[in-house]
Amino acid sequence: MLLTTARLAKALQLTLAVVKPDAVAHPLMLQALHQRILDNEFVIVRSKDVVWRRQDSERFYAEHAGRFFFQRLVEFMSSGPMRAYVLAREDAIHHWRELMGPTKVFRAKYTSPDTLRGQYGLTDTRNSIHGSDSIESAHREINFFFPDFCVKEWMEKEEPSVRNGEMKYDQQRQIHILPTES
Ligand code: RTP
Ligand code: MG
Repeated sequence: MLLTTARLAKALQLTLAVVKPDAVAHPLMLQALHQRILDNEFVIVRSKDVVWRRQDSERFYAEHAGRFFFQRLVEFMSSGPMRAYVLAREDAIHHWRELMGPTKVFRAKYTSPDTLRGQYGLTDTRNSIHGSDSIESAHREINFFFPDFCVKEWMEKEEPSVRNGEMKYDQQRQIHILPTES
């Protein structure tokens, strides 16, 4: 009982997850990835389908400008629709990256075949999933995909209710909602 109380006392964390164009191109794969999010106890706070222009990819991955894979990466990320999620969970950033698996798909398939990249990734570029790698990048990336969403406001107004388990999954919208939103 004490343990449960302590567990619930820890604030949830938000992260940005993206299903990349190689996976969104296959509806069954997208559906399976969506189900893995739910099975791993992430709360889907927001979800959106987007298509990037090349300059969006360049801006999002600016930290990699000049790397040998940069051109390939920005072309790939603007090659078709993507699905972006704001996910909440305790230590969401760490848990999502753990579930996602190593960047390099051949390593993922060898060392961590049960991860999302191990299971669905095609190549080191077409590796199916993105996840924020720090609190700072999660804030920046959530803002990049969801400019109308305010992390600070969500943490103040909605996080306590979500942590208390008051949200429910809306099958039609495929996100979790609080009773006040329905
Ligand atoms: P991401 O940002 O997409 O979640 O991936 P990550 O943190 O695991 O890896 P990062 O180093 O940030 O690389 C960003 C994306 O660039 C592509 N990449 N290709 N060909 C290669 O060696 C290579 N290395 C990285 C991948 O699409 C990677 O996810
Ligand atoms: Mg990264």
